[in-house]
Amino acid sequence: MADRIYYPNAELARTAYCNSVEQYKQMHEKSIKHPEEFWGEIAKQFYWETTSSNDKFFSYNFNRNDGDIFIKWMEGASTNISFNLLDKNVKCGNGDKIAFYWEGNDIEDYSRLTYRKLLEETCKFANVLKSKGVQKGDRVAIYMPMILELPIAMLACTRIGAVHSVIFAGYSSDSLAERVLDSKAKVLLTADGVWRGPKFLNLKSICDQAMAKVKSHDHKVESCIVVSHLRRVTSPPGSTSDGEKTKNINNGTTNGRSNEMNLSWDDDRDCWWHEEMEDAEASCYPVWVAAEDPLFILYTSGSTGKPKGVLHTTAGYLIYAATTFKYVFDYKPNDIYWCTADIGWITGHTYVVYGPLANAATSVLFEGTPFYPQNDRYWSVIEKYKVSQFYTAPTAIRSLMKFGDDLIKKYNLRSLKVLGSVGEPINSEAWLWFYNLIGQGKCSIADTFWQTETGGHVITPLPGATPMKPGSATFPFFGVLPELLDEDGKIIEGEGEGYLVFRQPWPGMMRSLYGNHERFETAYFDKFNGFYCTGDGARRDADGYFWVTGRIDDMLNVSGHLMSTAEVESVLAEHTAVAEAAVVSKPHPIKGQCLYCFITTNEGKNFDKQLQDELKKKIRERIGPFAQPDVVQHAPGLPKTRSGKIMRRILRKIAIGDRNVGDTSTLADESVVDLLFQLRPNA
Ligand code: PRX
Repeated sequence: MADRIYYPNAELARTAYCNSVEQYKQMHEKSIKHPEEFWGEIAKQFYWETTSSNDKFFSYNFNRNDGDIFIKWMEGASTNISFNLLDKNVKCGNGDKIAFYWEGNDIEDYSRLTYRKLLEETCKFANVLKSKGVQKGDRVAIYMPMILELPIAMLACTRIGAVHSVIFAGYSSDSLAERVLDSKAKVLLTADGVWRGPKFLNLKSICDQAMAKVKSHDHKVESCIVVSHLRRVTSPPGSTSDGEKTKNINNGTTNGRSNEMNLSWDDDRDCWWHEEMEDAEASCYPVWVAAEDPLFILYTSGSTGKPKGVLHTTAGYLIYAATTFKYVFDYKPNDIYWCTADIGWITGHTYVVYGPLANAATSVLFEGTPFYPQNDRYWSVIEKYKVSQFYTAPTAIRSLMKFGDDLIKKYNLRSLKVLGSVGEPINSEAWLWFYNLIGQGKCSIADTFWQTETGGHVITPLPGATPMKPGSATFPFFGVLPELLDEDGKIIEGEGEGYLVFRQPWPGMMRSLYGNHERFETAYFDKFNGFYCTGDGARRDADGYFWVTGRIDDMLNVSGHLMSTAEVESVLAEHTAVAEAAVVSKPHPIKGQCLYCFITTNEGKNFDKQLQDELKKKIRERIGPFAQPDVVQHAPGLPKTRSGKIMRRILRKIAIGDRNVGDTSTLADESVVDLLFQLRPNA
C-alpha cells in the first residue's frame, strides 16, 4: 500500500547514529540556529592545517539587492582533502582496510585496494601530474571508465590543489571537447577503451577527436595520460602488496573477445599511465589549500544549452559529503557499501569517492551494467561482497523489476540494511518492489533528493529515524531549510505545492559556475530573490513530508540524466533538412521520461524514416547515447504564441495523445494542434 507509513526496522534504529524523529528534529534545529557550532563540532573529525575563527565560520548573501551572491564556510581554515581521506585513515589504523573492491565488467575481473595502497598510488600519480607541469589551481579533465585509476586520479588532483573536471565516459567527443575547452584543462586522463556490458567504447579515439576540436579553438591539451585498461601490462593497482592475490584484470581476451585495437598516438602529448607511474615517488607532501579553494568542476546541463560548470570548494564540501554519507546510509565500520552510480556524475563524486573515503568506508566500485552477463548481476554482486548499503537509481530498479522475482530469490541478500534511491522521483510501485523484494521488508529506503549543485543530499529520510512514505524524500537534511513558493514568490505555508527553493546555504552547496559567476546568479537566484531555486516542483503533505514532483523548467530527466530542451534542439537544428525543432519529455515506464522531438523541415526536404534515423544518430554522436530520442515526429508547424514562443505545454499533451490541451486562445494558429495530433506516429 502506497499510502502506508513504513517505520525503520527496530534493530537498525537501535544502533543508528540518529534513531528517532525527536533526535532528528533537535539536530536539525541546532544545525539551522547554530550552524557554526553544529558544523564546527563535525569539522573536528578532520585535520586542519589552520583553523577558522567562529565569527568567520559561515557567511553568505542570497539577496541580489545586497550585492554579489556568495557562500563561504570556514574562512581562514586550510586543509588537504586527500590527506584527510587517506593519510589520516592510515594513521588511525585503517591502512590495511579495503577502500574499494573493484568488480569489473566481466565476472572474472576483480581487484581490491587498501587505504595504504590507495595513498601510495595517489601520491605517485600526484607526482606524475606535477611532472607534467600541473600546479595548484590548474584544471585536469578526466574521461575514464569505472576503474580504480579514476578515484586515484581525482585524489591525486586534490593532493596538489589541482581542480578535477570529470566528464562522464559516455559523452560524445563533442560534449567532451566543449567541457575541456570551457575549463581550459591542461591535462586529459583517459583509458584506451572499455567494455560496458557487451558494448565496446574506444575512449582514446574519442579523446583524440575531442583534443583535435579543442585545438581548433586555440586551446591545447598539453598531456594525455592513458590507462592501459584493455591489455594490462602491469598488475592493477590493488594486486601487489595487499597480501591476498587478486586476478590480473582484463588480460586482453576477456570472454574470448579480442581487445586488439588501433590506437593513434601523439608522442609529444600522449603517454601511458603505467609507464609514468614506474619511477614516480611514492610520497608526496600535500598542498594545503584554503577552505574556499576550488575542489572540482562538474558540468551539468543548462537551460540555454551550454553546460554549466558547477564549482565545488574544499572545506564545506568535505564536511557535508562526510556527514550526509554517515547519517543517510548509517554507515558502520564493518559495513560494505555499494553505490552503482558512475563517478562521472555528482552521485559518484560524493557517494562513491569523497563521502565513503571520508568515513574510512569499504565500498564496491563496479564497472559493469546490471544486465551483463545476466540480468541478475546486481544481486550477485550484493551476495558476493555481502553489501549492507545499496544505493541505485529508480530507472535501474524499474528496468530490473520486469525480469521477475525468481532471478532475485536465488541470491542471499540478507546482508542489506539500507537501500538508497537517487536521480528522479521514485514511483510507489518501484519503491514497494525495492522495499519488499530487495530489502525483504526490513531495510529502510533513503529516497535522496539532491542535485549536482547541492553537492550532497538535501531532502532525505534518515534510516533509523524517519518513518517512510513510498515516493516521498521526506524531510530536509541538517543545515537545509526548504520552502515552497508560488509563482509570485509567496511562501506557501503548510500543505501545498510550488517551487522548491532553499532559504540559506548548507556547507556542500555549489559556490559558482566556473568562469561565469553572473550566470550562477541569474540561473539560481533571479527567479526568487533571496532563495536558491532548484528548478524542481514539490508538494508538502499534511504531515510535512516533501514529495518532489520533478523539473518545472526546460529540463528533461531521462534515466536520471538531466538535459535541457535547448541543448537537444540546437543539435537537431544543425541538420540541413531541419528548419525548426522542439523537444519535450514524455513519460516512459523505465526511463522515467523519454525525448519526444517535433521537427519542421526546410522547404523541399522530405520527412522520412531516413531523416528520423539521421537525427537520432546525430543526437547520439553529439551528446551521447543516453540522449537518443524515442520519437521524432513531423511538425509542419509548431504551436506558438503570437509573440513566437513555443507552447511546450501543448506539445507535451500531443506527445502523450491527450486531446485535452487546455486553453489555446493565445496561439497564433490554432489549426496546427489538430494537424500535429493527426501526424502522431501512432495516430
Ligand atoms: O529533478 C531532480 C532530480 O534530479 C535533478 C538533479 O539532477 P543532477 O544534477 O543530475 O543530479 C542527480 C543526482 C543527485 C533534480 O533537480 N532528482 C534527483 N534526486 C531525486 C530527484 N527527483 C526526485 N526525487 C529524488 N530523490
